[in-house]
Amino acid sequence: MLLDKTRVFPVTKNADTPEDEAALRFASDIIRRGGLVVFPTETVYGLGANGLCEDASRAIFTAKGRPANNPLILHFADKSDINAVCDTNVRGFDALATLMPAPLTVILPAKPVVPRTTTGGLDTAAVRVPTSCIARKLIDFAGVPIAAPSANLSGKPSPTCVSHVLEDMDGRADVILDGGDCEVGVESTIVTLCTPVPTLLRPGGVTLETLRALLGDVAVHEGVLNAPKTDAKVLSPGMLYKHYAPDKPVTLLKGAKADVIAYANRHARAENAAVIAYGDDKPLLDAPVVLCAGSRSDDERYAARIFAMLRETNALPVDKIYAFLPEDTEGIALAVYNRLLRASGFHVMEIS
Ligand code: TXA
Ligand code: MG
Repeated sequence: MLLDKTRVFPVTKNADTPEDEAALRFASDIIRRGGLVVFPTETVYGLGANGLCEDASRAIFTAKGRPANNPLILHFADKSDINAVCDTNVRGFDALATLMPAPLTVILPAKPVVPRTTTGGLDTAAVRVPTSCIARKLIDFAGVPIAAPSANLSGKPSPTCVSHVLEDMDGRADVILDGGDCEVGVESTIVTLCTPVPTLLRPGGVTLETLRALLGDVAVHEGVLNAPKTDAKVLSPGMLYKHYAPDKPVTLLKGAKADVIAYANRHARAENAAVIAYGDDKPLLDAPVVLCAGSRSDDERYAARIFAMLRETNALPVDKIYAFLPEDTEGIALAVYNRLLRASGFHVMEIS
């Protein structure tokens, strides 16, 4: 850290007040000097540093306790800046660029200017232009691409509000910009254009259906819905690690609404378990604590709250967590499904 303690600044969503400008100037100066700044994006909070400076990028790995071979995403203020650090003359890139800014990360061949610390030793790099005005202004003021993983300690659920950021990053980052709750709530969609067929590595706010409409054939890496195999290392090192896990064991309940509710009602009280469910399930549930969001027809809202709900269970006097899986994997439900599988260590109960 450059500062002797973490400083927190509130910033409004549009980042357009004089106070916002002062906070963003201060934070961008920290980035230019090699320090660490936590900033909001539309997906989750990021722990940012100068992505073209090896020492600054290394400091991110230390602050998070992140394995050195798990690469970082480079964030840009504008898509026209990407070509300076990656080869954008790759099939599919122009089509994907029409979506940017978006909760979308694209893997491209890296140019030599990108330190291998940032890419975890790979010769490809992950690039993204966030929609968040706060994030883009910070990057613009810093004048360098900002490397940023989610601002959690390695293995913990990604933070979507500042209280969750503080749990993990107080005393580890120089500055935290408080931009309120993140709207999407799950990390960006990751697609690689460095494979013969574009391949989805991590589902997120930009859906597989949208990618297919733009690119035609898009493969889904088997690690998206299955426990990691060793070849995941080559394509997406992040898949290898247990992820998004709260402090208590998580069991996922898969099945029709009536069946998962009946199962939870038979077990939750006896096992002192919290239940994470859709909002319209709540009146039917009998459990020590029910955390809920969205409705069964509103997976966006469930996604927006899923990490926050997993984190909130840490503070509850319960011994375990049951969480309901989406009934299908269409749209953003695929992202929720993927994150819940990892949070539970692939512990799924199929109920019928
Ligand atoms: O929404 C997001 O993407 C957030 C916000 C802060 O932008 N960031 C984020 O970063 O989720 P992180 O580090 O938590 O996840 C980045 C993922 C990791 O799974 C990593 O393995 C993968 O991106 N990744 C990065 N560079 C890669 C590359 N060259 N090839 C394959 N996967 C890569
Ligand atoms: Mg992460």
